[in-house]
Amino acid sequence: MSEIDDLYMEEIISNYEHPHNRGSISNPSAEFHGHNPVCGDDIRIYITIKDGKVESAKFDGDGCSISIASASILTDYVKGKTLEEIEHMGVDTIRELLNIDPGPVRLKCATLSLKTLKGAVFLFEHKPNDTGNL
Ligand code: FES
Repeated sequence: MSEIDDLYMEEIISNYEHPHNRGSISNPSAEFHGHNPVCGDDIRIYITIKDGKVESAKFDGDGCSISIASASILTDYVKGKTLEEIEHMGVDTIRELLNIDPGPVRLKCATLSLKTLKGAVFLFEHKPNDTGNL
């Protein structure tokens, strides 16, 4: 592993041990529950939306180091983003944010928070009274 790879891993570990935006939002614009059926990990994301942009984003739940670090970094990143920008985010967005290629085995871990965020945005746009409990 190179020095740069070490730095990126340190960033992931730091976000896992001290996650940003952990908690819930009372009266969010939308919330959604994401689940990885392979391992049983759960994440719930809460967002508030103002003028078509994410004003705040928080998450809670349990997951592995990659899924929690990804949720921490993603909830920082999406503040101020438009709903359209979020709809266009994909696996490459997560790869860029984490600065690692999680590989096929950990890809579901790395993208759990993004799938959950997209679920919240979908509910906001299409089913505003749904709490995202699957
Ligand atoms: Fe469960 Fe990573 S092992 S999300």
